[in-house]
Amino acid sequence: MTYFRDNIEKLDGYVPGEQPADADVIKLNTNENPYPPSPRVIDVLRNINPEKLRKYPQPFGDEFRTAAAKIHGVSPENIICTNGGDELLSLCVRAFCAADRALAYPVPTYSLYPVLAKIENCPAVEIPFDEQFNLPAKLAKTHAALTIVCNPNAPSATFVPINELASLADELNGVLLIDEAYADFAEDNAIRLIKDFDNVIILRSLSKGYSLAGLRFGYGIADRNLINGLIKIKDSYNADAIALAAAKAAVEDRRYFSDNIEKIKAERNRLTENLRKLGFKVARSHTNFVQAQWRSDAQELYEKLKSAGILVRYWKSPQLADKLRITVGTARQNDRLIEQLKNFGF
Ligand SMILES: Cc1ncc(COP(=O)(O)O)c(C=O)c1O
Repeated sequence: MTYFRDNIEKLDGYVPGEQPADADVIKLNTNENPYPPSPRVIDVLRNINPEKLRKYPQPFGDEFRTAAAKIHGVSPENIICTNGGDELLSLCVRAFCAADRALAYPVPTYSLYPVLAKIENCPAVEIPFDEQFNLPAKLAKTHAALTIVCNPNAPSATFVPINELASLADELNGVLLIDEAYADFAEDNAIRLIKDFDNVIILRSLSKGYSLAGLRFGYGIADRNLINGLIKIKDSYNADAIALAAAKAAVEDRRYFSDNIEKIKAERNRLTENLRKLGFKVARSHTNFVQAQWRSDAQELYEKLKSAGILVRYWKSPQLADKLRITVGTARQNDRLIEQLKNFGF
């Protein structure tokens, strides 16, 4: 006897990376930013007026929308605020997919997408990337109502050129959601596409580039018709007053943001080189993590690192079993990881 819908009863829920209580663990497993958020964010949090909490927040987050619109060269009406980028993914699957309206995406990618399809009870069409993680041509031919391309992709850290995404948007009859949770660390992004395509939605997150994973704030950028449709189905006050105020302060501090990103990119290059010297195959990363391919199954390595107090991410799937996904940490954390790997005899 179950009270749940059949698909929910059978569902294996999304498995988030571990969040250990032990502060001594070196956490390189969930792509958090190793540096603190902007001092302007801390200032906003210290000075929250209780009056702001007594009242409901702005339902559409208009002050944040105006600030973000200015940065991206779009209108505030092109932006929807969400409770993390994950909420935007969930809203889109709810809005566009159904039993006869598929969700399509290239694989391997963010492992939340198939879970959202199962919750919505819609078909999930998975098109494998090739070895170089080029955009699969077949993705344009799935007839899906919603196609998601994670760019830069997780967990591969690879990047598809924006002109290829433009061609895909042009060919698709349905909506193309470009998950740019990691775009802050890449050389290019797809925001310009929303001017030419009324079927493109861009996802942005403050969890990675802005060091605010704990705040739970993200946003979508799209043609205003798509934004208005998504607004119809969101919770009335999906982004809370504290998150809206802190997120606005974060995106407005451009100097702090770009310094933070540059520090991570520099460390990313050093980490990549050091892992390659130890014998890992590491493709160029366009994100704040690297994918390190070992010469055989990497599960033992993952477990040994965990026992040594260093958490990285491992998936036991055919395409990923020989790989570790390692978040770029501080110089000290990255050095500790390399030292530990050397201690294992590499
Ligand atoms: C590819 C990708 N998209 C979206 C998200 C969601 O980010 P958040 O909900 O923290 O904004 C994540 C988080 O790890 C991610 O890896």
